[in-house]
Amino acid sequence: MSVSNITILGLQWGDEGKGKVVDRFSSNVDIVVRFCGGANAGHTVVVDGPEKNETQFILHLLPTGIIHPEVRCFIGAGVVCDPVSLFEELDDIKSRGIDWEGRLFIDYTTHLVLPQHKACEKYSENINTKKALATTLRGIGPTYADKADRIGITAGDLADDDRLRDRIDNFIKKKKPFLSILHDQNLSSPEKLHEFLKPYAYRIKAMLTDVTFELRKAISDNKRILFEGAQGALLDIGLGTYPYVTSSNTTIGGLFYGLGLPPGIQGEVLGVVKAYTTRVGNGPFPTELKDATGERLRKSGDEFGATTGRPRRTGWLDLATVRRTAFMSGVTGIVITKLDVLDGLDQIKVCIAHRYNNTLFDFPPLYSGFMEKVEPIYEKLKGWQSPTAGITDFEKLPVEAKNYIKFIEKTIGLPVKYISTGSNRKAFIEIS
Ligand code: GDP
Ligand code: IMO
Ligand code: MG
Repeated sequence: MSVSNITILGLQWGDEGKGKVVDRFSSNVDIVVRFCGGANAGHTVVVDGPEKNETQFILHLLPTGIIHPEVRCFIGAGVVCDPVSLFEELDDIKSRGIDWEGRLFIDYTTHLVLPQHKACEKYSENINTKKALATTLRGIGPTYADKADRIGITAGDLADDDRLRDRIDNFIKKKKPFLSILHDQNLSSPEKLHEFLKPYAYRIKAMLTDVTFELRKAISDNKRILFEGAQGALLDIGLGTYPYVTSSNTTIGGLFYGLGLPPGIQGEVLGVVKAYTTRVGNGPFPTELKDATGERLRKSGDEFGATTGRPRRTGWLDLATVRRTAFMSGVTGIVITKLDVLDGLDQIKVCIAHRYNNTLFDFPPLYSGFMEKVEPIYEKLKGWQSPTAGITDFEKLPVEAKNYIKFIEKTIGLPVKYISTGSNRKAFIEIS
C-alpha cells in the first residue's frame, strides 16, 4: 500500500491553519480529498498575486487543492454537500481565474444539505439560547441527523428524477411534524424542494463518481493523495467535547469511513497545532484567556472566523489535550502554525496537564462534564522579543522560539516537522 500519501488533520478546535498547510503540500500531490464536514469549514490560503499584492482564498466545501490547476479534487461520502455553497464557491474561484471543470468529483452517497436543514438548525439554536452550541448555521447537524435517520437525499439521487421525487416525498413526509413548527409552507412542499434542487441536479450530475473506486484506481496508478481534514479533533462528534462538537468524525477514523478506504492508506499524518488555542462557539476551554493577553492574541492572530466572522475565543496552548488528540489519529509529525503571533510576549504559558478532583491528567478525558471543571496546570516559558514573522529557516528563529518548539516536541513525544510563521504561503519552515 502506498506510503507517500499525506493526511492533514487539526488537533485542536479547528482553524489551526490546515488550509495553509494543505496548500503547501498540494503542489506535490495529484489528488486532494475532503472526507468530513461541509461548508462549516473555512480554510484560508494567502498567495502572492500577479502584482505581488497578497490575495486570499477561503475554501469552505471545496478541497483546498482546487486552487492548484493540476490537482484533481474529490468530495467523499462522509462530507455533507450544500449545493448553494458549492456553486457559490465554484463561481467565485472561476471568476478569479481558476478553471475547475473536469477536476472536481462528488461521491454518489454524499448527503445534500437542504434548506430544511438550515431552517431546523436556526430554530433549534434559538429555542434555548443558554444551551445553544453556537454552530455555523450551515445545516451540518440536521443533515447528518437525517443521514442517520435514513431519510436524507444524496448527490447521486439528483441523477435520476423519478428516484429524486421519491426520495423528496419520503423526506418531506417523515419530516413534516418537525417542519410544520417552522410555519413556512415552502419548506413542507415536495414540489418546492424539487424545484429548488432541479437546477443543481444538472450541474452536479457531471461531477458524480464512485470516490472509493476512483481513489483505489489512483493508488494503483501510483498517484499521490492528500487527505484534507476539516474542523479539529476536539470537535469530533464521538470523541470530542460533546455536545459542543460538530456532527462528523474529524479524527482519522473519519477518513476511512468517509471515503471507503482501508487503514494504511493515510500515509504521513500531519497534526496541525496552532501555537496557542482558539475556539469558535460554545463549550469548555480550560486554557481560555478572558483578559488583555487573550485580546492581544485575537488581535495579532486576526482571530475572527473564516466562515462566520465571529471573534474566536483565545487561550494558551494546551499540550495535554494535543497529546491525546495526536495519539487518537496516529499523528506522525506536528505542524506548528502562527508562531509569529506570540512574537513580543514576555512569558508564554503552556498547559501540560489538567487537574480534576485533585488528580492530575496528562492525557485528559475530553468528556465536557470534566473539561468544564478542570484546572489547567501550566509550565511557564520565556517569550522572544525579535520577530519570527516570515522566517523560513529554523536556525534563524530566536533561541526562545526554538526552545518553545523543542518543549512541544518533548512534552508530546512527537517531532515538529514544519512551522508556519505567517499567513502567506511562503512563510513556512521545514525542519530537516
Ligand atoms: P483552518 O480552518 O485550519 O484552515 O484555518 P483558518 O483558515 O480558518 O484560520 C487560520 C488563519 O490563520 C487564516 O486567517 C490564515 O491565513 C492564518 N494563518 C495561517 N498560518 C498562519 C501563520 O503561521 N501566521 C499567521 N499570522 N497567520 C496564519
Ligand atoms: P475548520 O475546518 C472552527 C464549530 C462551530 C461550533 C461547532 C458546531 O475551518 O477548522 P457546526 O456548524 O459544525 O454544527 O458547529 O463546531 N466549527 C468550527 N470551528 N473551525 C471549523 O472548521 C469549524 N467547523 C465547525 O463554531 O462551535
Ligand atoms: Mg477555519
